[in-house]
Amino acid sequence: MTHPSRRALIAGNWKMHRTVSESVALAHAIADGSRLGPRTDVVLAPVFTALFAVHQALKGTGIFLGAQDLHWDAQGAFTGEISGPMLADVGAQYVIVGHSERRQFFADTDENVRKKTRAALQYNLIPIVCVGESLAERDGGLTFEVIGRQLDAALHGLTFDQVAPLVIAYEPVWAIGTGKTAKASDAQLAHAFLRDRVRNRFAESADSLRILYGGSVKADNAAELLAQPDIDGALVGGASLDAETFGRIIRAAG
Ligand code: PGA
Repeated sequence: MTHPSRRALIAGNWKMHRTVSESVALAHAIADGSRLGPRTDVVLAPVFTALFAVHQALKGTGIFLGAQDLHWDAQGAFTGEISGPMLADVGAQYVIVGHSERRQFFADTDENVRKKTRAALQYNLIPIVCVGESLAERDGGLTFEVIGRQLDAALHGLTFDQVAPLVIAYEPVWAIGTGKTAKASDAQLAHAFLRDRVRNRFAESADSLRILYGGSVKADNAAELLAQPDIDGALVGGASLDAETFGRIIRAAG
């Protein structure tokens, strides 16, 4: 992360883990154990049911609250869904959009991801838009084609101003929860490709765009990944469930 206009961002995606009381305890443990660097933002994304309690727990800590998904409408007959205004109402400031597990298991399409990205921005939530290729796609030499398509779809129709706060997460699907991390140099190539693609459409807003790496980020590989010029932070799954480990990842960001 070299550009002076970018703050590092370390986001913990707790996925479908932890009850409300466990989430609150984890949030306290992370807040107590992590000395936030002056140029590092931290986001915790618990399950929906724990959002409000974690929001209360994070008050005064400087740590932001994120949700893991949203529906694009403000309200309506969509059983089981949660909207942007509802997330903002319980204190969320960020929302993960298009995570590969949503794409894989819950039929999130490029078009849905586009609608969710727009909705997040509309309701003043910062979307963390996930893109990433599967192992078959990587082996077939399709990495850039796939992540380029996913990025274009998410940004379609957005204006320069709307793109400014957005966060992208490059998460190769084969690296998520597998213990396999992309080589730092390979991840850097993908990040530089994504930033160039944004630059071609939105000029200088690409310099301030934060692009996170996700996929088996751990305390012992975070520093090398975060040292790459276009890797501005990390989206962390498994390792964010342990306050000690997550604290070490936060410290690796500076
Ligand atoms: P992982 O998950 O760190 O457990 O690989 C990352 C993610 O899915 O965001």
